Amino acid sequence: PKPTASGARGLRFSPVAPNTRDQVSVPDGYGQNVVIRWGEPILRGAPAFQPDKQTAKAQAGQFGYNNDFLSLLPLQGERGRQVLVANHEYTDENLMFRGYDPASPTREQVEIAWAAHGLSVVVVQEENRSGKLTPVNRHPLNRRLTATSVFQVTGPAAGSPLLRTSADRTGTKVLGTLNNCAGGTTPWGTTLHGEENFNQYFANGSSDTDKRYGIGTGETERKWERFDKRFDLSREPNEAHRFGWVVELDPYDPDSTPRKRTALGRFKHEAAQPRLTSDGRPVVYMGDDEKFDYFYKFVSSKKMKKGTSRAARAHNLTLLDEGTLYVAKLTGDSPAEEIDGTGKLPTDSEFDGSGVWIPLATGDTSHVPGMTAEEVYVFTRLAGDKVGATKMDRPEDVEPSPRTGRVYIALTNNTDRGKAGKAAADEANPRDANKHGQILELAENWDDPAGDGFAWRLFLVAGDPKDPSTYFSGFPKERVSPISCPDNVAFDDHGNLWISTDGNQLGSHDGLFGVATAGERRGELKQFLTMPTGAETCGPVIQDRRVLVAVQHPGEIDGASVEKPASTWPDGPGRIVRPSVVAVWRKDGGDIGV
Ligand code: FEO
Ligand code: CA
Ligand code: CA
Ligand code: CA
Repeated sequence: PKPTASGARGLRFSPVAPNTRDQVSVPDGYGQNVVIRWGEPILRGAPAFQPDKQTAKAQAGQFGYNNDFLSLLPLQGERGRQVLVANHEYTDENLMFRGYDPASPTREQVEIAWAAHGLSVVVVQEENRSGKLTPVNRHPLNRRLTATSVFQVTGPAAGSPLLRTSADRTGTKVLGTLNNCAGGTTPWGTTLHGEENFNQYFANGSSDTDKRYGIGTGETERKWERFDKRFDLSREPNEAHRFGWVVELDPYDPDSTPRKRTALGRFKHEAAQPRLTSDGRPVVYMGDDEKFDYFYKFVSSKKMKKGTSRAARAHNLTLLDEGTLYVAKLTGDSPAEEIDGTGKLPTDSEFDGSGVWIPLATGDTSHVPGMTAEEVYVFTRLAGDKVGATKMDRPEDVEPSPRTGRVYIALTNNTDRGKAGKAAADEANPRDANKHGQILELAENWDDPAGDGFAWRLFLVAGDPKDPSTYFSGFPKERVSPISCPDNVAFDDHGNLWISTDGNQLGSHDGLFGVATAGERRGELKQFLTMPTGAETCGPVIQDRRVLVAVQHPGEIDGASVEKPASTWPDGPGRIVRPSVVAVWRKDGGDIGV
């Protein structure tokens, strides 16, 4: 039997078949619109986008490049409007600039790239009570934050000598945020933004800690160090310590300074998604997206105040500065000899087990022998190494289920698993040379997110369902869509998990999938859309009447350029490829998947 429009509530659509079309393909009966493109003006005074007349000044008032994480927040008192917050992870200069010479970028090109990084806040408007969204240019809440905007460092490592530079002797004021990948939305109305692969922006690393964070010893590909010495670690060795944090932004206060929260540790932060304890303290789950790196949580010692009063908002902006940072250690319950690296299920028929949260630091107190608390926060990866945390297959986005509290972690892939000198397969990461990734489901003991122990099991082991190493929570494999490289995850209001992919290894373009997490249809995975050529699926936000996705790096294929594009999405032949946000909705105005 084929997948049909039957399915769990919220997932009743005909799945989109895997394909390689240069477009966003959606199920029958669904429509779409481009909400906003790279370069569209959002601030007062910003000019219309002109691909051959780009300037840094224009870009600083326009929507940035390579949209990744998206959040949609309510906007009181303005009918049909919401606040869209987007990450702009990085730039593809060869797809942005005609005649780009990677050996000698110009100052203007580099400054455009600085302005195209960072975050955007832009109010969006529903059209005719449909799922269609369009931007409200020049709304007073609209905002751009870039690689040169001011950020405040807060929490226990703020002001540390490890964070001081010649330009900032206080160690509390950083210019810019870089490589914002996924993120999270807090129950108190702010957004969180992970600074992920910040290593690529820094030249001439030399310390062991630079090496542990992947910072190279020579010049960088982007060559920003030629234009600002802070990107040259031989001249400004602490500057890289000021990136790799979780940023918290208050999108409702356009004059606020966003904060880098040191209590949440420093690593290649993919995302950060909170959940509240029963007494109202936030617990933030976070992955470090690197082969063989770790999964973390932060437990605040302070309770959220309800409401939107000035006092409540001010208090809630301190929640992520005090608490305890933990790293996860997972143990399988099947005999080690049953985990052979092929993905064959052990005799208890599940990849599952228990885990402990190992505390790393609380405020100014370190729990890691031989490291100060400041060192734990700034060099968190080394703290995880010392306490023997579990080496995972690239922890990407994470999402606690708003219904059950179970936490879903996308482990995107790890082609080095089991290689000589590298960690072998274990029950949580059961395949050697893992090309397709898996999704792990974590249940805190007693459903207490502040606790120090949990149970876990693999929810999905991705790949072609015909591949015997795949697993869809026991759902019949002939009735699921193939999936590869899960990255971003989100929940809908029905309790279904939505999964976007990056780097499909099955010969099809990336896409977005929905899957039930409970009931008889648990594991019934269905593909909702596919991406244009070269693009990764990001964002996703699932609302009753729309699905919002970020089409990131369309056209990013080896050797492609403005002159020789691999994609001309979204505007067609002869037009420059533009990363954009897309809304998908039902043409008959009904709710998604019901
Ligand atoms: Fe930027 Fe781990 O994806
Ligand atoms: Ca088992
Ligand atoms: Ca990602
Ligand atoms: Ca998410």
